[in-house]
Amino acid sequence: MGSVSRGRRRKTRRRTPGGYVRFLQLVTAGTLAPTAVAVFRLAAPLGALVGALAAAATATAVLAPIGARVRFGFQDERRARSSSTLAVLFDLLWMTSMLAPVTTLLAAVGLAVAHRLSLGAACEVGVAGAALVAGYGVLVRRRWVRRRRVELEIPGLPAAFDGYRIVHLSDLHVGSIDRREEALAWSHAANALDADLAVITGDILTTGTAYHDDAADAVGALRAKDGVFACLGNHDYYGEEELCAKLARRGARVLRNEGVAITRGRETLWLAGIEDVWRGAPDLRAALRGRPEGAPIVLLAHNPDFFPRAREAGVSLTLSGHTHAGQLAVPFLVSRATLSHFVTRWPAGLFRDGAASIFVHAGLGTTGPAIRLGAAPEVVEIVLKATPSGRGRPTASGRGHRSER
Ligand SMILES: [Fe+2]
Repeated sequence: MGSVSRGRRRKTRRRTPGGYVRFLQLVTAGTLAPTAVAVFRLAAPLGALVGALAAAATATAVLAPIGARVRFGFQDERRARSSSTLAVLFDLLWMTSMLAPVTTLLAAVGLAVAHRLSLGAACEVGVAGAALVAGYGVLVRRRWVRRRRVELEIPGLPAAFDGYRIVHLSDLHVGSIDRREEALAWSHAANALDADLAVITGDILTTGTAYHDDAADAVGALRAKDGVFACLGNHDYYGEEELCAKLARRGARVLRNEGVAITRGRETLWLAGIEDVWRGAPDLRAALRGRPEGAPIVLLAHNPDFFPRAREAGVSLTLSGHTHAGQLAVPFLVSRATLSHFVTRWPAGLFRDGAASIFVHAGLGTTGPAIRLGAAPEVVEIVLKATPSGRGRPTASGRGHRSER
């Protein structure tokens, strides 16, 4: 390991849910019709009034707790073991009602094709289907971590680093929903890859300080030959100095506008990390200070929107997270059809622009509803490959073309 330089840091304000709850309630209310119709039809044999009351009660059970659920997600100030189970169960109901319009439409098409179209029956089948899909997303897919290997040619990579392996984790969100035990399992899965380097690209926590020790235990369990490094994400700025100190005591170093030299003989790879774009003051110039001339740069930057600035500065590979791949995506098309497309040009996976590349990790934990569909949590092994002279230099520019292996 080589020299380290520190850059400017900035204290930041906490965010609160605010009008976000009302927005979610409005959107959810717009999806409730199929669920209300299905519940009414199920209860109607007991009388129309009972059916109407059951439908109203279901709508209330979906809409009313949204405020409490959002506050629960934002307030990991104290440990909340029992209410986390309640929160996940609520998410199951919430996501069922939100998915129901899509599954009801599919059911209606299916019934129409079979010449048995009944909108009431379509609502019943649709809501049952939505419950199955939501159950899969909340209880199965969210916890079903995939291992992924990405090989990437780095222009100018010294031969000594050809085949260098980085295990990449991101967005653990250790807290009341994604607990210490799950995070430890992710670290053990990463350790099984026996990588040269382990990195975490931010959002180690969701909010608050109550889970600092759990996060430090999980990150501290990571092992790699050249060490464990992280950058901070927008969710980590709650007592972040204390968090970084706890991580350091367990052998993991947070790079805050600073970098380290990783050496193989006389060759150097510069690993840099910056503060978060939203909550900190990223200073790439500081993070590159002390870098030997010509050493290729791997940058840990939580938010992929930093990629154009990294590319301009000559960063070979930017590792990011932040998007969670939208948590909801069309299966097998996660880099093209995901909710995170609405917030960034680099929603998930590998992108290249000229000689620069960015890999956006889909994350391991969740924020918002505890669900993942089509956007699997992942442990990623990134293998750096030297570029043979005369070939392999990416030529795409502008928006960048996608290249996943
Ligand atoms: Fe995150």
